Amino acid sequence: MENNYHVPVLLKECIDGLNIKPDGVYVDVTFGGGGHSREILKNLGKDGVLIAFDQDPDAQRNKIDDPRFHFVDQNFAFLKNNLRLLGYKTVDGILADLGVSSHQFNEPERGFSTRFDAALDMRMDKQGKLTAADVLNTYSEDQLHKIFGIYGEVKNAKSLARAIVTGRVDRPVLTLADFKAVAAAHIPKGKEHKYMAQVFQALRIEVNAEMKVLEDFLIQTADVLKPGGRLVVMSYHSLEDRPVKSFIAKGKFRGEVDKDFFGNEQKPFKAITRKAIVADEAELERNSRSRSAKLRVGERL
Ligand SMILES: C[S@@+](CC[C@H](N)C(=O)[O-])C[C@H]1O[C@@H](n2cnc3c(N)ncnc32)[C@H](O)[C@@H]1O
Repeated sequence: MENNYHVPVLLKECIDGLNIKPDGVYVDVTFGGGGHSREILKNLGKDGVLIAFDQDPDAQRNKIDDPRFHFVDQNFAFLKNNLRLLGYKTVDGILADLGVSSHQFNEPERGFSTRFDAALDMRMDKQGKLTAADVLNTYSEDQLHKIFGIYGEVKNAKSLARAIVTGRVDRPVLTLADFKAVAAAHIPKGKEHKYMAQVFQALRIEVNAEMKVLEDFLIQTADVLKPGGRLVVMSYHSLEDRPVKSFIAKGKFRGEVDKDFFGNEQKPFKAITRKAIVADEAELERNSRSRSAKLRVGERL
């Protein structure tokens, strides 16, 4: 593995959260550079199994040569079906380390980083149909307004959306430079970096349907985890952390926890950590990517 592919975040905390049984079946749905997967394997005995998912073909170069390891080149939105195809109806633990890897972020042509003037791509699955440029050039003003506002929490989402639909008539918005040219008047001076990060976050979430994928995935974890099985999820912004927190606490994304006729709570998980686990000083110093990480752990009831 290239050691600069990705440095795993909250590695020990994730492994502790999984509470690994040596002969158990574990799933790492965000394989990336395989840092977490390697550590899971170290904690498994010879009868243990690890199934890793990654929808980015680049991650396959990190596949681990070990008879206990299986790689699935699919979106984790299809968790349950893929596990069944491999012959596993239930598993003992699932780890999700959401978002993009450092590798994806550092490759200019993937279009994830505001540091490079590259094509606005942002697909994690390189075969995905929709790119960020498609979003910017084909979505209506209303749709763009919603995406920037909700997914990016961009303050002037409405006027930015208007500037894009007006600007793209003369010249399609294909690269970061094109975007900056049409949006220039709306990017607050002195806050360019934060603003562009919010815009990129919004586009990335839309391109990869990240919120829908996350909800679909979480619902399936309740179906496939054995009682006592652990769900360990690490997220990097509040839009992701909110559904994770809510699902672990209540088994749903909106509203209050369901109760049966006798008033007993009906929920699939018990939260193992009351508050999200975050990186300590030492890790923050070593790895700046750990700055926004929030880890939550649930146990299947
Ligand atoms: C933050 S990185 C994971 C890093 C990994 N834990 C490590 O230690 O190297 C996230 C990885 O998950 C993949 N990924 C993100 N969303 C996915 C999804 N919905 N389905 C499959 N893979 C996904 C990305 O392609 C990326 O490689």
